[in-house]
Amino acid sequence: MTKGTGESRFSSGICCCSETFEECYNFGMSEQTKSCRHVAIIMDGNGRWAKAQGKPRTAGHLAGADNVRTIAIAASELGIEYLTLYAFSTENWKRSETEVNYLMKLPKVFFGKYMKEFIDCGYRMRMLGELDQLPKGTKQVLEEAVELSKNNTGLNLTLAMNYGSQREIVLAAEQYARDVRDGKASLDISNEEFEQYLMTKDMPNVDLMIRTSGELRISNYLLWQIAYAELEFVPEAWPEFTPEVLKRCISQFGKRDRRFGGVKDE
Ligand code: FPP
Repeated sequence: MTKGTGESRFSSGICCCSETFEECYNFGMSEQTKSCRHVAIIMDGNGRWAKAQGKPRTAGHLAGADNVRTIAIAASELGIEYLTLYAFSTENWKRSETEVNYLMKLPKVFFGKYMKEFIDCGYRMRMLGELDQLPKGTKQVLEEAVELSKNNTGLNLTLAMNYGSQREIVLAAEQYARDVRDGKASLDISNEEFEQYLMTKDMPNVDLMIRTSGELRISNYLLWQIAYAELEFVPEAWPEFTPEVLKRCISQFGKRDRRFGGVKDE
């Protein structure tokens, strides 16, 4: 497979940034990542990381955005199919105007730098969140990234922007109620049928949720989708979350006994 086809390189044994399978991060980890299709990350600690270096909070967000690329490459090479990153929550509007404005401009900077590479690597960009409430320019950049990569079959790289899980569930319930009223849906539906109303409708549920920077909270992120996810909380701030730390998390995931509410060996 040649570069730029928009297809997944992983199945061919050739990685995006390395020449051969042996050189890539996945070496020796395929058994663990096989069952870890979907990794979600709460990218926390940009501000504290920046402060520790005597820099403004915005410098932390810029370093954090660059790290999205590094971890996307690593995730893709590890064979993870879905990487879903919390970039801006419905609660983040409470931050200072300077910080919010900076975070709204970051997608343009980020995709300007990396979109071509993402396309070449076969990544498919997806978005979660109420994009209509974002500034027009921000929304446009995000939608363009989705459109440009919609036929790609490699890593599904999703950014949650103006996303809040409780809001997502309320919006889903409202749409479901409208569908029942209009005779398009039955009153008795399965969990799987309800999932079709969520923003993640064509994505698998999360296998591994990671939060960086030592906080032990979920912060309104993918509450439905993490019902049976394994959780990892790491001390590293997001800008210092390296591919090695990701590998460590997946290695921990590989040691977990996932029973999904059942009992093993019965
Ligand atoms: C939380 O850490 C982080 C955020 C609210 C923003 C995360 C955004 C990025 C990593 C940039 C990604 C953007 C794109 C376009 C890919 P914090 O800043 O609240 O850290 P603190 O708890 O140390 O203050």
